[in-house]
Amino acid sequence: MDKTPIDKIIKDLDISASEMRRLVKSFTSEMRRGLSGARSSLKMIPTYASQPTGEETGEFIALDLGGTNFRILSLELKGEGRIGKPAIMSFKLGQKEISGGENNLFDFIASRLKLFLSKNDLLGAKHFLGFTFSFPVKQTGIATGDLVCWTKGFSAKGVIGKDVVRLLNEALIRCGVGNLNISAMLNDTVGTLAAESYEDRNCDIGVIIGTGTNACYSETLSNISGIKNSGSASGRMIINIEWGNFDKLKKTRFDLEVDEMSSNPGEQILEKMVSGMYLGQIAESVIRQTIASPIRGFTTEHMSRIESDVSKDLSNTGRVLKSLGVKTSTLKVRAEVLSICKAVSSRGARIVAACLGAIILKMDPKISSSHTIAIDGTVYEKHPTFAKNIRAGLKGLFGRKASRVKLVLTKDGSGIGAAITAAAASNNRR
Ligand code: BGC
Repeated sequence: MDKTPIDKIIKDLDISASEMRRLVKSFTSEMRRGLSGARSSLKMIPTYASQPTGEETGEFIALDLGGTNFRILSLELKGEGRIGKPAIMSFKLGQKEISGGENNLFDFIASRLKLFLSKNDLLGAKHFLGFTFSFPVKQTGIATGDLVCWTKGFSAKGVIGKDVVRLLNEALIRCGVGNLNISAMLNDTVGTLAAESYEDRNCDIGVIIGTGTNACYSETLSNISGIKNSGSASGRMIINIEWGNFDKLKKTRFDLEVDEMSSNPGEQILEKMVSGMYLGQIAESVIRQTIASPIRGFTTEHMSRIESDVSKDLSNTGRVLKSLGVKTSTLKVRAEVLSICKAVSSRGARIVAACLGAIILKMDPKISSSHTIAIDGTVYEKHPTFAKNIRAGLKGLFGRKASRVKLVLTKDGSGIGAAITAAAASNNRR
């Protein structure tokens, strides 16, 4: 068992005010480099989408794929920011789809789309579909783009470097579905931004903090290199930052261990310090190496339970530890475990706050306007202090001006936003 005092480890996980400012600078410089086409850990992908007007109308189908569960929705956009109640079906991918060949994944999705259409009486007439595909995709248009790399443990073969819209279209044809027109492909952050800004015109940032993490924002067209004819009337375009890959962060040996064990070592360094797939793994690595070696299978959900423990003797923490192989624990051990969890989660939230700070300052250096940030994802929604710590981090950076920044939980925005983006794209096409 390692003899490094817990206090020292907790201090190493802390992000001081000056480190926050360094992160803001470094994130800004990586954003600029990415936008100009220079080498950067931030992909800064032009999405060919802009903020919706709120006046998009019609019936649309949305496919939302970004993790082991995917959803299919059909919904009516009524204009003036109003949305009808969607019909939704959810499905779970198996290992065969997540790590098998390309046809396994796309044929499965196409077959479930067919099922959804038939259950909802939507086979036959033509429908526009918005396809949320939440992985790094190098887009070349609103409905074309090649997968750059897999994240979040996915490894289906034969997809990297290919146009995912084409793969889905081909699978739909194989499956006998001929009435869907995929008019938009988008990242879940873009869907989240679209869903919130359909109602709130100040929304210009979309964020996901769930299994994976990422953000997008609205950028002036002239700042984006390589974009010629975008068809954007607003003179702006949403940029998918792919912030999960930001790598100018101080790593502890626990981070290095988690990275080494992952399916994509050396990549998605920020994601591995912030998102739900990894927070629990980092905490487990610290706990296992310092105070409770038998512990196994610690997840971010366990962290949330421990950090919600308000009992005097930390008995809930004891119960969580017991369920993970630590048969008995002293109060001291339970308190140390709690401190470790807090240190790991608040580091994640402060990293998010610094990156958000950089994005806001990039759009609005004096913070003279109001900004709404649409956020979705289980970590943001369910962790007891993550959201609060992001707000505190922004307050530390911006002082009183932080009140001009509103954080809004935008539940299921990635599906609804797909319909809105498909609507905007199909209107442009008509
Ligand atoms: C992906 C992003 C996605 C994020 C949240 C990351 O792993 O690279 O494209 O937006 O997860 O789902």
